[in-house]
Amino acid sequence: MPEAIIRFEHVSRTLISKSNGVEVDTTILPDLSFEIERGEFTAITGPSGSGKTTMLYLMGGLDKPTTGKVFLEDLEISSMNEDELSEVRNAKLGFVYQFHFLLPEFSSLENVMMPMVARGRYSAQQARKKATELLSDVGLSDKLNSRPNQLSGGQQQRVAIARALANDPLVLLTDEPTGNLDSKNSAMVFDLFKELNEKHKQTIVVVTHDEAFASKTQRIIHILDGKVHSDTRM
Ligand SMILES: Nc1ncnc2c1ncn2[C@@H]1O[C@H](COP(=O)(O)OP(=O)(O)OP(=O)(O)O)[C@@H](O)[C@H]1O
Ligand SMILES: [Mg+2]
Repeated sequence: MPEAIIRFEHVSRTLISKSNGVEVDTTILPDLSFEIERGEFTAITGPSGSGKTTMLYLMGGLDKPTTGKVFLEDLEISSMNEDELSEVRNAKLGFVYQFHFLLPEFSSLENVMMPMVARGRYSAQQARKKATELLSDVGLSDKLNSRPNQLSGGQQQRVAIARALANDPLVLLTDEPTGNLDSKNSAMVFDLFKELNEKHKQTIVVVTHDEAFASKTQRIIHILDGKVHSDTRM
């Protein structure tokens, strides 16, 4: 029985801005309904401006729908306040962006330990052990003590992925994770996601322009003008 991890129910998102003192409504997502199931590796594709990042923000509780509901498992995150959302984000979600946002003055190990220590689920010693394992999983056992500026772009992104996995997220939400990488490093990041999905049944949603990347996932949701244009399971 497939189990929905993420569910959008008639989600719309309209932004209101002012132009020459006149309020202008821009509807980015008119009416979006879909589900992501546990264990799925899904790509969201579509042209620039089609609403992909907006969708990801809504999934991650970083933005709220104008109308409609967003669920994470059975929790309606669209009705939560900021404190509840931040708790849910820390407990259940891992984020990876195009730019890694690692803390420059800290080592790989410290960057990966940080979310664990912040959540208070692990002692410093346990966090260190787990961070070491995660960095080994992403192929960086020999870079534990390197700072971000001592790493290549691909290595930095792998540290960011290890960090996103620190609190065993229900779902990994990633926005153009290979957008800043060459093809070799993109392939490495893809292989890493594939392995996480296959070995650990990690649910992954990846927003990408990279057709080659998308075609290797299990499902492609193609967005045009904020609507699902096609939804293909391989
Ligand atoms: N804060 C904002 N204010 C005004 N318009 C916005 C804002 N955020 C997004 N938009 C508009 O909403 C639409 C969708 O944006 P979104 O970032 O979701 O697109 P995207 O599919 O992620 O594009 P890209 O592939 O270029 O990253 C765009 O037309 C964008 O200009
Ligand atoms: Mg985007």
